[in-house]
Amino acid sequence: PLVSPKEMFAGAYAGGYAIGAFNVNNMEIIQGIMEAGSEENAPVILQVSAGARKYAGQRYIIKLMEAALEITDLPVVLHLDHGPTFEMCKEVIDGGFSSVMIDGSHLPFEENIALTKQVVAYAHDHGVWVEAELGRLAGVEEDVSSNEHIYTDPDEAAEFAGRTGCDSLAVAIGTSHGAYKFTGEARLDFDRLDKISALLPNLPIVLHGASSVVPKFVEMANEFGGNIGGAKGVPEDLLRKAASKAVCKINIDTDIRLAMTAEIRKFLAQNPTEFDPRGYLGEARKAVKEMVRHKITNVLGCSGKA
Ligand code: G3H
Ligand code: 13P
Ligand code: ZN
Repeated sequence: PLVSPKEMFAGAYAGGYAIGAFNVNNMEIIQGIMEAGSEENAPVILQVSAGARKYAGQRYIIKLMEAALEITDLPVVLHLDHGPTFEMCKEVIDGGFSSVMIDGSHLPFEENIALTKQVVAYAHDHGVWVEAELGRLAGVEEDVSSNEHIYTDPDEAAEFAGRTGCDSLAVAIGTSHGAYKFTGEARLDFDRLDKISALLPNLPIVLHGASSVVPKFVEMANEFGGNIGGAKGVPEDLLRKAASKAVCKINIDTDIRLAMTAEIRKFLAQNPTEFDPRGYLGEARKAVKEMVRHKITNVLGCSGKA
């Protein structure tokens, strides 16, 4: 059934684990995630970006997720990822999502507060959860590309959460979107995370840009004609540590993209006479499922928590 993140995050916060929030763009991705969740009896968050809405079409992507909800017994959250405007948040709230992110992280502090407050007012009237973001991740954040991290300031985070009434907060502690997260050693600022959560006890924290950029898939893509050089993600032990702390939601998109692309490259290279899309898309779906299962059992710790 469709649920609010409320109970999911309460369990994750108290239990020292995290829920996976997986970006969905098509049927195979949704099916792969749902099959993994079912086999592991794990709660899942399906999240849709503005780009996903544009790619699949809002009606299609909603209907695909509705089909997943009809079939499953698992608790599932439907979430808007990086909502850019009040209007888009309102649209998906009216369309039945149980959670939205309003991303005002690129705005000046007071403007981020004002925009977030506006979304919180409408969302809470409709029983919908609001994730907000303070701080800026390096890399590509929707259409805004920033070269520098602006790590979340703990005192500002406390003021921001207090004044906006947001339900969860995405923070910048060293992760970034995409496949190139670190040039040198991978590190996250756990002291900063601890300071933020000490000032905001019980507020679920969200980690964006949290793909681990699974080396197996990078190597496979490169072996079969790809050219993905220097890719580096967040090491799994750092993600496990984050999950054991106040981080309740871990966002994963890049690992889905890499898993699918690697398997499709391999399949097509090894089966040059094949042209039935069900062949390579079937392999891609299987890869998504196995990757998500691995996250659930070995990284997030949410197996059996549904
Ligand atoms: O944070 C961005 C997510 O990976 C979604 O990416 O905007 O290309 O759909 P997208
Ligand atoms: P990755 O690029 O690390 O998968 O992050 C995804 C994300 O944060 C979606 O909001
Ligand atoms: Zn993100």
